[in-house]
Amino acid sequence: MSQLWDSLFSEAAGAIKPSPIREMLHLIRQPGMISFAGGMPDPAIFPVSEFYEATAILRDSGRDVLQYGTTEGYGPLKDFLSAWTAPRMGRRLKEEELLITSGSTQVVDLLNWAIVDKGDVIIVEEPSFMGSTLNMHNHGADFETISCDAEGMEVHLLPEKIEALQKAGRKVKYIYCITNFHNPLGCTLTVERRKALLDVAYRYGIPILEDDPYGYVRFDGDHLPTLFSLDEKGMVIYACSFSKILAPGTRLGWCAGPAELIRKMAIFKQGVDVCSCVVSQALVYEYCRQGHLEAFLPKIIAHYTKKRDAMEEAFKRHLPLDEVHWVKPEGGFFYWLETPKIDVDELFRKAIDQKVAIVPGHTFFVGQGGHHNCRLCYTFASPEEIDEGARRLGSAMRELL
Ligand SMILES: Cc1ncc(COP(=O)(O)O)c(C=O)c1O
Repeated sequence: MSQLWDSLFSEAAGAIKPSPIREMLHLIRQPGMISFAGGMPDPAIFPVSEFYEATAILRDSGRDVLQYGTTEGYGPLKDFLSAWTAPRMGRRLKEEELLITSGSTQVVDLLNWAIVDKGDVIIVEEPSFMGSTLNMHNHGADFETISCDAEGMEVHLLPEKIEALQKAGRKVKYIYCITNFHNPLGCTLTVERRKALLDVAYRYGIPILEDDPYGYVRFDGDHLPTLFSLDEKGMVIYACSFSKILAPGTRLGWCAGPAELIRKMAIFKQGVDVCSCVVSQALVYEYCRQGHLEAFLPKIIAHYTKKRDAMEEAFKRHLPLDEVHWVKPEGGFFYWLETPKIDVDELFRKAIDQKVAIVPGHTFFVGQGGHHNCRLCYTFASPEEIDEGARRLGSAMRELL
């Protein structure tokens, strides 16, 4: 039988790659394992009772909510988002500029359906969020990569690379940028670089996908203007999600962009999943309508600030400080460690033996790199586990030095 399936698999299936983090889940779920691996929120603060209260919408509007919904999204939730996101978007979004999606992962997929053909080039930060780059790969995209430093994408490197690609006759379809509290790097693109990135987009006619699931989770400093709000020419598609600010089990995200693009993405969505789960959209809407989202955000921020601080302190206490470097993140979910003298695969194995899970840095590279880096998520583990996990990681590192 396996011969039969081998002969049937599509070209895309032949090239498909599993997500190493999803594949790692069975390791991470071993008893006693302290996980810094998945980018998961802390279930201890999920607003379970408020969400349960929101189920009243099923009693009151069940006949709508249990029906197929419109592909573009549940109207009341779209209206809520249009008003609620206005401060970050710089204005209220029009109905036709907003699409509710099944997680923001689906934004990347729909955008790729809409504008990417096999062999087109997408410019990504290196390293970048693998969930997105895997999807781009599935669409047959090729990659150009741009390195990052503590101030985010090194935007000044873009023109030379774009010109070389254009000279070679390649079509560059978009630039993918995680502007705030980057996954995996934890860094944030400065305002100067945001403006410079928009200049590049205008100069070369290349749109930007601004992926911003962590933007609301800022611990220190002031919020920076989104690329979307700075953009004057409709070159930015903005993606966000309820996964990190409410609960990933809702599987709801959204995107904002030019109406003609949103329309094409919605038509593709008709054939992908008809519409995002209406029950989920209605529950999230009711939860938001009752003011719970607004009240929950400061709680998330306070809760995760403590965990970020616990990880910072635990690193200082337990890691071999001369051999490990990091930048303290101002928000989001992740630390990115650099261990110039330690091979991260060896560190990963030793860490798993000691029951602490990290993600090797090379997982986030579409090219080479990341062999002396790892990503650690601080939101999932408790402060006590963070301390113990850092102690175990420090001892694994010392064994390898
Ligand atoms: C940068 C980035 N984009 C998108 C996502 C996907 O989020 P969602 O759960 O909404 O699909 C994640 C999740 O980890 C992420 O880190």
